[in-house]
This record gives sequence, C-alpha cells and structure tokens, in this order.
Amino acid sequence: MSKAKDSEKQKQVAGKVEALLKKMSLEEKVGQLNQVGGAEFAPGPKAEDQIRKGGAGSVLWLNDTKKFNELQKIAMEESPSGIPLLFALDVIHGYRTIFPVPLAMAASWDPNVPEKTQTIAAKEARAAGLHWTFGPMLDICRDPRWGRIVEGAGEDPYLGSAMAVAQVRGFQGDDLSDAERVLACAKHFAGYGYSDGGRDYDPVYLSESQLRNIVLPPFKAATDAGVATFMSAYMDLNDVPATGNRWLLRQVLREEWGFEGFLVSDAFAVGNMVVQHHAKDGREAALRGLNAGMNMDMSSYTYTENAAKLVKEGALTEAEIDELVRPILTIKFKMGLFEKPYVDETLLEKVIALPEHRTASRWAAQRSMVLLRNEGGLLPLSKDIKKVAVIGPVADSMQATEGSWMVFGHTPAAVTVLEGVRAKLPNAEVTYASGPEIRRDIPSWFESLMAGQERKPEQTPAESEAAFQSALEVAKAADQIIMVLGETDIMAGEAASRASLDLPGRQEELLKAVSALGKPVVLVLLNGRPLSINWAAENIPAILEAWEPGTEGGNAVADILFGDANPGGKLPVTFPRKGSHAPLYYARNMTHSPESSPLYNPRYWDGLPVPLYPFGFGLSYTTFEFSNLKVSAEKIKVGASLTVSVDVTNTGKVAGDEVAQLYIHQQYGTDTRPIRELKGFERITLQPGEKKTVTFTLGANELTYWSSNAGKWIQDPASFDLWAGSDSQASLHAEFEVTA
Ligand code: NOJ
Repeated sequence: MSKAKDSEKQKQVAGKVEALLKKMSLEEKVGQLNQVGGAEFAPGPKAEDQIRKGGAGSVLWLNDTKKFNELQKIAMEESPSGIPLLFALDVIHGYRTIFPVPLAMAASWDPNVPEKTQTIAAKEARAAGLHWTFGPMLDICRDPRWGRIVEGAGEDPYLGSAMAVAQVRGFQGDDLSDAERVLACAKHFAGYGYSDGGRDYDPVYLSESQLRNIVLPPFKAATDAGVATFMSAYMDLNDVPATGNRWLLRQVLREEWGFEGFLVSDAFAVGNMVVQHHAKDGREAALRGLNAGMNMDMSSYTYTENAAKLVKEGALTEAEIDELVRPILTIKFKMGLFEKPYVDETLLEKVIALPEHRTASRWAAQRSMVLLRNEGGLLPLSKDIKKVAVIGPVADSMQATEGSWMVFGHTPAAVTVLEGVRAKLPNAEVTYASGPEIRRDIPSWFESLMAGQERKPEQTPAESEAAFQSALEVAKAADQIIMVLGETDIMAGEAASRASLDLPGRQEELLKAVSALGKPVVLVLLNGRPLSINWAAENIPAILEAWEPGTEGGNAVADILFGDANPGGKLPVTFPRKGSHAPLYYARNMTHSPESSPLYNPRYWDGLPVPLYPFGFGLSYTTFEFSNLKVSAEKIKVGASLTVSVDVTNTGKVAGDEVAQLYIHQQYGTDTRPIRELKGFERITLQPGEKKTVTFTLGANELTYWSSNAGKWIQDPASFDLWAGSDSQASLHAEFEVTA
C-alpha cells in the first residue's frame, strides 16, 4: 500500500474508533479490556453471558470453529455495540501441520524457515477461526534448566532478533486485513528467560545493561517489524511484576519504541499481582495494571471487577480507559472484523490438506537439525543395510516428535523416527524396542490439557528391566543401531524446569549397554533443550540433534541419516556439561583470569567449566574452509560503517550448507564488552569445490551499546577484534578501529 493510501486508511479507522467509543458505555469499554477463557479450567461466568452484555473483547483457550461462529454471532448481534471478538490461542509452531519447535527453527540459522512455517501456521489457524496467536516467544535464555527455552530462539540477541522479525512477518504478513494471517504477540515482556535457578516463574533481576543489550533487542525488532500485540511476563522484574511495570510498558515500549498496538497480560497475571504480594487487593492490582498501560486482562477479571469503580471513584479518568481501549478497537477495524466477523466452517479441511504444508514441515525439520558428531564419516548410512534396529523411548512417540504446546484438543499425528526409517528402507528389516520408559518425576498440569495423554502407571523395576533386556536383544540382532533418546514433549515447556541436563531415566545406561555390543550406533536426540550428553559425545560416533521436529520429523531424520539431506543447522544455544553450570553462554565478559590462565579450567574442581558444544556449532557431511577475511577500512569514525567479507569454500565431496558467522569484540571502552558478540550470519549452499564471498556490514547499529557507566546508548572510539567462521570459536581474525 502506498504511504498516502495508508495514512488515509489510518484516518478512516481512527474516525471509526472514535465514533464507536462515543457510543460505548464505560462498562462496555472495560469489557473490551477483558479476555475470557473458553476452557474448563478458566474462571469467570459463562463466556456467552459475558459476551452478550459486552463484557469480553477476546476469547482464548478455545479451539472450536463452530463455537467461534456461535460466540461471534452473540457479540455481533446481541451485545450492546456489536463489537467482534478476537479469538486467540497458542499457535506456537503450527496449528494442524506442526513444525519444529522455535528453538529448532532458530537452529536453522535461516530466517526463511520461521517466516515460511509461521505463514502456514497462520493460514491454518485463521481457517480454523482464530485471529490471534500468542507468539513469537522472544525470551533470550542462557539457562537450559528453564523448560521454556524450547519456545524461544536461544541465547543470543542478534540471532533472536532475526528470528523475531521472521516470525512476526510470517504470522502477520504486512497487512492486518490479510484474511490468511493472524495477529502476532511478542512475549513474554520481559526477562522471563532469566528466572533465578532456571525455575519457571521465579523472580528475575536484570541490570539495565542486561535488559537493553541482551533481553530487549528481539522485542524492539518485533516492534519495528510491526507486531500488533505484546504479552507481559508473569514474574517480578527487579521487584515489580512485568504486568504492572510502568517503566517497561509505558516508558520503554510506548514512549521510546513507539509501539501502537495493544498489550495483554499473561494468564491471570493482573490478579496475580495480589498473589505475588505486590498489590494490596484486586482494586489496587487493576489500578497498577491500568496505570502501567496494560490493555487487556487475560482472564483474571480484575479489570471487569474494578476498572469502572475506579473511574467512578475518581482514581482513573474515563479518558484513561479510552486510551487503553483504542488500540484494541483499532486492530479489530484494521483486520476487517466488523465487516467479516465469521469463518467459513468448511475452510480448515481444505487448507490443512494442502500438500505444501507437509513439504514445508519436512524442509523446516531438515534445516533445523544439527549434526553434533560424525566420527569416521559414519553418516550418512547406506540405504542398502538389511537389518536396522531403532531403539529408544521417543523413537516412536508422536508427542515427542511434535513437541511442546500441543494442547487444547490437538490430536498428535507426527511421522515418528521409527516410521521415517521404515519408509526410507522399504526392503530392510527395521526392528524396534522402546527400552525402559521415561517420565517426569513430578507430573505436569499441562498433561491434563492434552488429547490422549492419560498417565499410565509407572513401570515397575521388573518391567523396566524387561524392557531394557528386550531392547538389548533387538539391538543384538541388527547390523546398524539407531538410538532415539531425549525428552518427551512435557519435559520442556511451561513448568518443566530441570536441575539436571542428563538424559532422563535409564537412557544413558541403555546407550552404554547397546554401544558395548560393538555394532555401529547412531544417536538421534529428540529434545527441547540442551542436554549434557558427555558420555555420548566421547563414545557414540554419530550424533544428530533433531530437537522436537514436528509432523514430518521422522521423515526428516531419515532424510538426514540416509543422505537425502545434508545437515546444516547450528546450535542457537551453548550445551553445558552439567545443568549446574548454567547459565553458560559464549558472550560473557573477560575475567582477570582468561582462558589461557592456569586459573581458568580448575575453577570448578569437579568438571571442566567449558561448554560441551559451543554456540553456533554444527557439522555437515562436507567440509568448509573460511579464508580471505577482509575489512573495507582499518579505521572508521564513530557512526560510520565498514564492510567485512570472507570467502567460504566447500572443500568436501558433496553439496552442503554452511552458516557464515561474524563475531566482534570491543577491546576496551566505557564499559567492558563481551569477549565475542554475533553481529552477522548467513546460511549458504555450496556445491563441492564451490566458493562464495559473504559480506557483512558493521556500523552504528552493531557497535552501539547501552553503557552502565554512561547510563545511555553510546558508541565508543575503540579497537575491535572480529572473527568469521563456522561457530562462536571461529579463529579467522582481523581488527579495525573506531575513532572519535
Ligand atoms: C501462559 C503462558 O505463559 C503464555 O505463554 C501463554 O501464551 C498463555 N498462558 C496463554 O495460553
């Protein structure tokens, strides 16, 4: 749309919003600020009754196309001003066609992956009648004990920002009236990934420098990409709940960044300001939320019960309520919901049948997988092998393959690794054993929201042993063993923190026993967080990190294992050697005893403090060489830019993808800066022998930082190192200087 047309449309929408606001009662306005829960566990009066009296702006936790139309009809025809509802749900990595979890998509280091998959997710969700998804999740996380690391893009703000923008584009497109897209929601604003001890929901303490340099950049990038909504985080940020955090919501988001959409709290979070011992009572919680600029209350009814009273008693003005309602109505008008409030109930089945959705799921999964080890070129395997054993508790689990967030009536339907291998080798004998079960020691509340997830009785020690022995028998009879180990879907995600990052249950014991048979063993990992697979890293020759790969996950694994796809993903997060080493990340500051010092390694006397696998790491079936690193200028002035170029050559025998990564380090300055920071990356495909030159730009955007010492954004005149290569330990080095 041209700029002139766009501003004309904006004016028209603004006019409609003002006209509507004029005829709405105060109670109806407050109703727009209320999000009603459509699930059984949600509190509050019956959704129908709330909608009828104009008490609901949006409905969430409902996944029923017919019901959407019924409720919408009540809103349009029976509520006082006939304002359409927004139907919202967590469509995090696919609606019916499931894509790799967000952490996996970040491992593709290819923003096209999340953009394309979220475009499809939006199309399916919209066809089901949904208008709004609660994604992307943009929490930077450097502590893999935190289960929700699976929902984000890992530890790095630069990679995280690229993935944020791609997902916003995918979900929303560039026009809110696009009937195949949904509203995106940047969450959880902000700092949720930094909970004390990696324990979900625990308080977060972050300096302004950590916030501005690490945590906020993906949210800023999403804002600049036009994200329509934001969700506040549950926890206290520096002793103020994010939901009532005026500094964060008003000063940073609205005033500094110019965000024009609307904010929703996380579930019950406005009311929980009382539970968290921040607000005295519901009245005060509502006041704090409203004052902080929190537009919509997710299902705690704190606004419904208090906002109108607050206006009547003079604690707030109606104009202040109008200010909070305005962006909600604006978005409803922009989406065209007043004209087209209903969904065609026959659409979903046609949309999900589109073959390109599954093709995209397989492609995304292939691109997300990371080859961690391949001693002696064991992979790819030959398709001529005759007897293959596929072993492990997640080898044939649709839930583990689809991964986290498959709730609200979703029926799991993934191709498992076992099925993928069978499909790939129609003439081989493919046997299977699950081995002993794995389970959470403490069950998850989320299991109650999942289809077909009744908790089976725990295996007895004798059953576990029988399963162990039968897996060994299956392994003995095969020529090639594929172990598929990791975590189940409910072992990562919300309320799924862990103290240990080891393979749960008896999986490592089984791996050791199978490996002792002396047959070739390949390890495939299905998991939603880094795992400390120290023994496997030394003893199992080939390891593929497949994450939670989605509907086509098993096929994608088989494509890679048997050479129909060449892995090119890279870790978006450091793999520590122990859970207790977390947080561990590459972009740390130099200490007085650097890596070269004799004090560095023995800091823990019970294990090396260095990563098992570094950030950015991942192998390929071919090899690459980086050379000819050049900077366009040795010196630039503050504010100016230079370009960096590097040649990447495929030195192996097959085509493959490499991710060229650029890291910088400011050698001194107003503040100490991290020893390395990612400031550019590009995933490229190279034929054997082919060479490409990759070029990056470094300028004020990349060299400016929030300084604790100066209390503002600054760019220092200083000397910089830069490295280009295939991971965060790249050694090809150059320098440049920024002068005053
Ligand atoms: C709680 C979660 O923290 C959030 O990510 C989610 O979007 C909401 N509930 C809605 O389901």
